[in-house]
Amino acid sequence: VTTQKLTELANFKIGAAVKMANITGEAAYSNTLKGEFNQLTAEFEMKMNFIWTSENNYDFSKVDYLVNYAQQNNMTVHGHALLWYQSFPDWFKNANYDTVAFESKVKVYIETVVGRYKGKIRSWDVANEIFNDDGTMRIESQIQGKFKDPVGFVGRCFKYAAAADPDCKLFYNDYSVVLASGKRNAMKNMAIRFKNTGVPIHGLGDQFHYRISTSQTTINNGFADLVSTGLLIHLSEIDCKVNVNNSPTYVLNSTDLQKQSDFYKNTAKLYNAIPANQKFGMTMWGITDKNTWLRDSGNGNKEYPLLFDEVYAKKPAYAGFLEGLK
Ligand code: G3I
Repeated sequence: VTTQKLTELANFKIGAAVKMANITGEAAYSNTLKGEFNQLTAEFEMKMNFIWTSENNYDFSKVDYLVNYAQQNNMTVHGHALLWYQSFPDWFKNANYDTVAFESKVKVYIETVVGRYKGKIRSWDVANEIFNDDGTMRIESQIQGKFKDPVGFVGRCFKYAAAADPDCKLFYNDYSVVLASGKRNAMKNMAIRFKNTGVPIHGLGDQFHYRISTSQTTINNGFADLVSTGLLIHLSEIDCKVNVNNSPTYVLNSTDLQKQSDFYKNTAKLYNAIPANQKFGMTMWGITDKNTWLRDSGNGNKEYPLLFDEVYAKKPAYAGFLEGLK
C-alpha cells in the first residue's frame, strides 16, 4: 500500500475544511489533519456571524486558535468568507442599515478582520455565492437587496481587504461553477470588470461539491472555461456524494467507491494540468466521512463523500486522488 502523501506529490496546497471542536476533541482528527494536509479552511468559525458578535464586539478566539494551530503545524490558512448572504449576524440584519451605513460598517469589519490576520491568513474568500446558477444576482442576499450595483459593492470590498493586507490573495467563491454556464459567465464578466476597474481580484473558487453521477465531460468543459480567465483557481470545498438519490436506505458499495475514486483521480488530473501560475490549491470540505456537512443536512442520510472513512482509513478515493497527481 502506498504511503505517499498528497502533499508530497502536489505542487499546490492540499487543504481541508476543519472545525475547531474536532481538532480539540479528537487526536485522530488532528493527527490526520496535520499529517495529510498543508492548508486549512474554517468550516464556519471565520464567518461573519461567528466573529462579529455586535457592532463593536468581535470574538476572535476560534480564529486565533485555528491560525495558531496552522502556524504550529506549518499549514497555511484560507479565510472563508468575508461576505456571504447566509452569515450576516442577526443583529446586523435587524439594524436594517441603509446602503451608506451598511457599506461603512462592512468596511470596518473587513479592515478589522483582514488587518488582524495580516501576513497570517494567506488568502480570503472576499465574497461567496452572490450569483444564482443562471447568472442573475441572488436576490435574497443581504447584499443584493441593498445595492443597485451589488457587484460594484463587492468590488469595493475587495479593495478594503487589499488595503488591509496587500499580500493576501483575494478570491470570489461559488458552487457548481463548472456546471452552471450562466453563473460562470457572470463570474467571468465580474472578473473582467474588476480587472478593467482596478479591483484586486486574484482568484476564483469552485466549491466542487459534486457526485459520482456528475458528468465528467461537463466538468472538463466548464473547468477549461474557468481556467481561461487566467486567475488563480481554487477547488475550495471538494466532496463527492455517492448516495446520489439521498436514499435513507443507501448502502455503501465497492462500485460506488470506485466511481468516487475515479472522480478524485479525474479532478486531480484536471487541476494538476493547469498553468503553474494559476495553481493555488485543492481543498476537501472535511477530513473524514464521520463528520461531513452532508450528514448535518437533517435528512438523516449517511453520506460518504471524503477521502478518509469513519475510522480515518484511506478510501479508494485517496488512492485515486494520488493517482491523478502523478
Ligand atoms: O452554531 C453552533 C456554534 O454555536 C457552536 O459553537 C458550534 C460547535 O460545534 O456549532 C455550531 O453549529 C453549527 C456549525 O456548522 C457546526 O456544525 C452552525 O450552527 C452551522 O451553521 C454550521 O454550518 C456550516 C454552514 O456552512 C453554515 O456556516 C457547516 O458546518 C459548513 O459545512 C457550511 O459550509 C458551507 C460553505 O461555507 C459554503 N459552501 C456551502 C457549504 C455547505 O453548506
